[in-house]
Amino acid sequence: MTCSRLCRVRWSPCLSEEAVGAPTRLLSPSTPVITLGPDPRRAGVTMPESYPIVEVLPEWVLGPEEMGSKEKFWYYDPDSETAWLFKHPQDNTGQHWAEKISAEVASRLGMFHARVELAKFQGKRGSTTESFSRGGRELIHGNQMLERVVRGYDPNKIFNQSSHTLTNIWRVIDRVFPEAEGARQGKLRFAEHLVLDALIGNTDRHHENWGILRKRVGIRWRGFIAPSFDHASSLGRELRDQDRDRRLKEGRVGYYVQRGRGAVYWSEDERHGPSPLELVRQASRTHPDLFRPALEKLARLDENSLSDLVDRVPNDWMTSSARAFAVALMGHSLGQLGELFR
Ligand SMILES: Nc1ncnc2c1ncn2[C@@H]1O[C@H](COP(=O)(O)OP(=O)(O)OP(=O)(O)O)[C@@H](O)[C@H]1O
Ligand SMILES: [Mg+2]
Repeated sequence: MTCSRLCRVRWSPCLSEEAVGAPTRLLSPSTPVITLGPDPRRAGVTMPESYPIVEVLPEWVLGPEEMGSKEKFWYYDPDSETAWLFKHPQDNTGQHWAEKISAEVASRLGMFHARVELAKFQGKRGSTTESFSRGGRELIHGNQMLERVVRGYDPNKIFNQSSHTLTNIWRVIDRVFPEAEGARQGKLRFAEHLVLDALIGNTDRHHENWGILRKRVGIRWRGFIAPSFDHASSLGRELRDQDRDRRLKEGRVGYYVQRGRGAVYWSEDERHGPSPLELVRQASRTHPDLFRPALEKLARLDENSLSDLVDRVPNDWMTSSARAFAVALMGHSLGQLGELFR
């Protein structure tokens, strides 16, 4: 079960307006201000062990979301009174199940993430993500803040953006949250995002895939690092089954993980970012105080619990090879991450 309700957020420090700036866009022009509603799972067909499938109706559609590379649209579910983002997976990929499993893993770890369900729209399978931009909260993306804080930062360059380093992200957090404790909490949360990425092999934490949520309270802005979202590029979702089987048979899952190129760089001189696992390995050496709490959460998982989370994807939504590979990938990463503080 997911548990990323915004009501769990206790820490909401003051923000520096100068570092955050004005939002350059609203999430979706037609996205209404939302209050938390009842569980929308009742809109789907619930099977005992499998994840439910939400059936999205055409009359709920609000409009497309232009950001990001995949086809997707916002809709308003009248039963849940919440805006949701339906995402079509790219052809021949498991991006939809990768989104769902990753959200469930984050939930199991007690990490802050957007809620995700498997969904169908006009017979097509996808995933749906509950908007966290509600109740007057606005999402400000990483690139909008990096542009203000890091001289010469190009907010429009997503690929090969070697200025998207952990150091520059820390600079943004330090500027956005002027109080020391606010900045520390922000970094702890971002470290959680990175540990989750390392566990699920998410290579897509680029500067539009994280941000802060802010809200005006009286004369001040208050905010926090937004829940983790967009985990579609994880768990070997792009592989063909034949390839998965071969890698499993040859014991080369670790090699696949190691070869992953992450979107957060370690240094601006690098030609490509380290794998999400390698990034955490390096960051936990330089910032043990920030990464240890997130790594300690991994003790809540073992291979059996990972298998259970994967097995709840309905049978015909994911092949047995894809399941075996996803579990092996997370099992490998879990082992490696567990070594970091031994
Ligand atoms: N749960 C959410 N709540 C609010 N806004 C969201 C949420 N999920 C996504 N968004 C917004 O929608 C945009 C596109 O969504 P998302 O990143 O999931 O799409 P994508 O096509 O997979 O992106 P990418 O090109 O990074 O692969 C995000 O950059 C963010 O602005
Ligand atoms: Mg994205």
